[in-house]
Amino acid sequence: MEDTSEAIHPDKAGLPVVQETWNSFGHMIRWQEHNGVYLCYGERSHAALIFLSDGEFRFKVFQGEYPDLSTTIAILPRTETSQPEVEENEENLVFTTSVIQVLLNRQTFALTVLDKNGQEIARQETVSWSPRGATNGLFNMQEGSHFYGLGEKSSFLDKRGERYTMWNTDVYAPHMPEIEALYESIPLLLHMQGETTYGIFLDNPGRSDFDMRSHGVAYTIGCSTGEYDIYFIYGPELKDVIRRYTAMTGRISLPPKWALGYHQSRYSYMNQSEVMQLARDFREKDIPCDVIYLDIHYMEGYRVFTFDKIRFPDPKGMISELKDMGIRIVPIVDPGVKKDPKYPVYREGVQEDHFCRYLEGDIYFGDVWPGTSAFPDFTDNRTAEWWGQLHEYYTSLGIEGIWNDMNEPAVFNTLKTMDLDVIHKNNGKPMTHEELHNLYGLLMSKATYEGMKDHMNGRRPFILTRAGYSGIQRYAAIWTGDNRSFWEHMAMAIPMVLNMGLSGLPFAGPDIGGFAHHTSAQLLVRWTQMGAFFPYCRNHSSLGTTRQEPWSFGEQIEGVLREYIGLRYRWLPHLYNLFHEASQTGMPIIRPLILEYPRDPQVTNLCDQFLVGADVLIAPIYRPDTYCRAVYLPEGIWHDYWTGERHQGGKHILVDAPLDVLPMFIRASSIVVEGSLRQYTGDQADDSITFHIYGAIADDSFTAAYSLYEDDGETFAYENGKHSKLDIRVQGETDGLRLSMRYAHREYVAVRDQLRFTLRQPEFTPSEIVGLESITLDDLAEGKTGWSMDEQSGDILIQVLDTEQNEWILKV
Ligand code: GLC
Repeated sequence: MEDTSEAIHPDKAGLPVVQETWNSFGHMIRWQEHNGVYLCYGERSHAALIFLSDGEFRFKVFQGEYPDLSTTIAILPRTETSQPEVEENEENLVFTTSVIQVLLNRQTFALTVLDKNGQEIARQETVSWSPRGATNGLFNMQEGSHFYGLGEKSSFLDKRGERYTMWNTDVYAPHMPEIEALYESIPLLLHMQGETTYGIFLDNPGRSDFDMRSHGVAYTIGCSTGEYDIYFIYGPELKDVIRRYTAMTGRISLPPKWALGYHQSRYSYMNQSEVMQLARDFREKDIPCDVIYLDIHYMEGYRVFTFDKIRFPDPKGMISELKDMGIRIVPIVDPGVKKDPKYPVYREGVQEDHFCRYLEGDIYFGDVWPGTSAFPDFTDNRTAEWWGQLHEYYTSLGIEGIWNDMNEPAVFNTLKTMDLDVIHKNNGKPMTHEELHNLYGLLMSKATYEGMKDHMNGRRPFILTRAGYSGIQRYAAIWTGDNRSFWEHMAMAIPMVLNMGLSGLPFAGPDIGGFAHHTSAQLLVRWTQMGAFFPYCRNHSSLGTTRQEPWSFGEQIEGVLREYIGLRYRWLPHLYNLFHEASQTGMPIIRPLILEYPRDPQVTNLCDQFLVGADVLIAPIYRPDTYCRAVYLPEGIWHDYWTGERHQGGKHILVDAPLDVLPMFIRASSIVVEGSLRQYTGDQADDSITFHIYGAIADDSFTAAYSLYEDDGETFAYENGKHSKLDIRVQGETDGLRLSMRYAHREYVAVRDQLRFTLRQPEFTPSEIVGLESITLDDLAEGKTGWSMDEQSGDILIQVLDTEQNEWILKV
């Protein structure tokens, strides 16, 4: 060392660190409008403003004469923009739309957003950048600021006081509040203050940071490479921001109904006979199940698009036999392709130039399960197409769902991912991995979704992914990666999945029971009770851990698990309805209370209970040996789902919860729908349903409504109108209640003749129901139409024909 010049390497001299000077725009020199783009030129840099609608605008920093206005794939193409009125005064350039006013300061480029009443909603004080290419926006925050969104992050619901990084990362270490980056990156921050909420979306797939901790009365959003390209999304309500954000980045496409069932996984079910036995166990034990996963051991030496011939001698036969039992197989597919010149996928990938390379031309190789592997460059449409088409291998075996894992991409090295200077082709605009890292998982799942869809004859594919970026919701469900069988991880899954829902990712859930470490009987019960109401419901566990199939802890525990998995199946019509709503409006399926009760100060950070849709409140037990808990009921009257007991809301109550009870409450004046218990979603194709009407009163003030969406649950025929919408309305009257049903649309006809209604403990007893005969409970059970009162529960049961339209008057 001493005898070369390296001995005097500058790094060894211990020179003082030179203070970096961060630059800002300087004052505005001129501005101009060009095709609806407002170009504002500063002394040192420029900003482009585009109004996408009256409540949304894009703000992009650029150099040179004209900005590159392309976006990442997160943003859906859209044709219309909105034209604000523009005025210029001494101080500001002022943009006015029908809902907001945006002031761009001509001295400093400070950006202020006001609402219609002139109230300040948001203020970006400065944007500054370092000579090394990082950019930072500094935004005002107030005493009462609350922060949500940011996708898959640890810690509590309200992100005030937290700091996070967007950099898709494979984190096997226990997920702790201090972990700043997990597998998914959704650079969307929701800021709620008083009665106004807005969102800022930073469309940058490189590393970015959101810091709500370090700057006192300000928060920052910054990126270390690439462009500072933000979208301001106005509310005023949280729901409005979600609606606008998901209109911009897309909503879920309706999954096949089977994907809403219970899924069973383990790393790994090792061979065909183990898988078949598992399926038979579910059926023999009457525990509903729709999906079994095949983890990496199904492959031949971890080569994707292969089955190991010894472990799985007849995959096609196995898959078809399972399908007859109502069980689908979802195999794992990782991006790493084993370096093996005899392996056709690798050979073709090299020969057709599909793998990521360095600038100098060498293929990038990294170590993952198969050993040395190459990684497809999904940023190139040609490669995405190739990868998608490879899935014909799976569809030809009868497979309809794929599990994408390790797609951060994860690599077994100290960086945990691909070298940052690997070049992505990016459809003719080459960029480094450092700049595009967070897109890798999204592009892989998009290619997979599209390839599967091409080969499924109009049936809906299901894709599960670990990594993603904004827009991933259009292609895949997301599970929250390698959690552990810790009570703390069960509790943390609630705010994590709730914030994912607020960030446009409604179809999400954790590994139920915990992946790593060893589950226990109680933990599995409590987690399954909660998981039964999570949008994505899969039990998965790691190699070498305590088994956690539902029967792993004896008959008593098995019984409780059977009941709750069964409960999910009975609630499928309601869940599917919520999935449909999510696909139309972007509203999450499970919701933090703040979404429905934004003015209730008790719920700003409430995340040990959640809502399913708007009206069902779930309060899981998330500590061991705990058989009672405090539950916060927001305003209104709430019915205990199990006992029917009424509670006045706006306060906490103490609820008993023995091991077989998940505390659940239904809001009075609401309707929920339940279907029949079944062993798998397509079982018997019996679509019989019961609408449960809560807290009916014979008074004008009482109204309740429900719109039930139905379709075949399997194909895309719904896109061509083959679905139905059944509107149920209940209106109180001084001397009774009017109950009506009407199909607003009925091009899908469900398999049933009758509809059932239950008035759950109404506050009056009808003396008659005009047009319906009073019959006995036994007659009802035999399928006769009519009505009856259940003396024991106080419920009124009604059974009618499932016709186009009808109405009944219940008289006091
Ligand atoms: C990763 C996944 C996990 C999977 C394992 C083996 O750790 O997150 O779910 O079981 O890889 O494929």
